[in-house]
Amino acid sequence: MLTNKLKFYGLGIGLRDEIQKDILNYLEASSTQTLIQWLEIIPENYINNGGLPRKHFQEVLAKGIPLIPHGVNLSIGSAPQNKKRLEFDFYLLKGLKELFQEIKAPWFSDHLVNSRIGSHYFQELIPVPFTKEAAEVVANNIKYLEDYFQIPFLFENPSYYTTYGLRELREQTFINLVLEKARCGFLLDINNVLVNSINHKYLPKPFLDDLDLRKVVQVHLGGLKRGYTSKLTGHSIKVLDSHSEPVSDVALDLFSYVIKKTKVKAVLLERDANFSEEGFLGLLYELKQIRGIMDSKYDSEEESETEKTKLATNPTENIISTEPVALETEANNRTASSLIDNKAANVNINPAAIPSTSSIPAIMADNDLIKNQLANDLDFLNEELSDLG
Ligand SMILES: [Fe+2]
Repeated sequence: MLTNKLKFYGLGIGLRDEIQKDILNYLEASSTQTLIQWLEIIPENYINNGGLPRKHFQEVLAKGIPLIPHGVNLSIGSAPQNKKRLEFDFYLLKGLKELFQEIKAPWFSDHLVNSRIGSHYFQELIPVPFTKEAAEVVANNIKYLEDYFQIPFLFENPSYYTTYGLRELREQTFINLVLEKARCGFLLDINNVLVNSINHKYLPKPFLDDLDLRKVVQVHLGGLKRGYTSKLTGHSIKVLDSHSEPVSDVALDLFSYVIKKTKVKAVLLERDANFSEEGFLGLLYELKQIRGIMDSKYDSEEESETEKTKLATNPTENIISTEPVALETEANNRTASSLIDNKAANVNINPAAIPSTSSIPAIMADNDLIKNQLANDLDFLNEELSDLG
């Protein structure tokens, strides 16, 4: 399904349970200027019997904040068993369709993986073999899903920690082939490219250059953490796509590289774990960093005005200041409460709507600690990448 007519959604974050209250408070307090322009939801969490309540969805939508679903269970890499076409779980599809219609989802996405055999789902996202036959299977599954849901589908490149012995195609050729056959959109997870590049020993920029970036509709930006060596098998994983740490500077640099090459409709700060380390204010800090990169891209483009106009005319999507966050320049002797004031002033939110200072962990109150942590990660990543180059 065509994706080039989709509108620009800007920057978003995942509506996860742990930060849901903070996000709703933030949106309440920042009715005219916000770093959060849309929210990603994991749709499977909200459907059928036992799903989480959706009552706040209409409240969010009424504020002009779109909800965009990102699924985890469609398993588009699963092959048909004794049938011409893969049999999807219609209980799942029906629940998803009702939800997509309710929230007026502009598109939906899922991972380029296999996570189901027959009626058995498993937790892990297993990579699909990079073969022409698998590309055909995936493309047929995507076409079926788009036909069923009647909205565009994007697939996401996953991180993976093992490979199949035989590789008929390079990963980037495989991704391009699926895009071509399925005629769908692409959700480029930049951190997954970085994680895979280190674990599987290739340089991320040439990999990105080989991808058909014109098909990128959405970008995911998440954090990684150092991997481990299995005591049992000796198998070593250098980095893990953990979604539990701040986005690394290397990933931000790759993001900057990508958005110079293509028009992206939506960008997500992908954080799913370890919220207590830095608190919601830490996420606002990261959003601000990402937004700065996005705004500088628009400023440097002739057509930027079009995008900005689109953004500014949406009542909840005004351009924010791109001045550096005070946290970066006045790091020392900062108390948690002054951190709130500076951050709140910077993003124009009402400090009263932000959680109490006691919920801000020490790591965010001490900027030097964060800087050291990020600097260490950067040194580590740069070392790994220079070994590859
Ligand atoms: Fe992702």
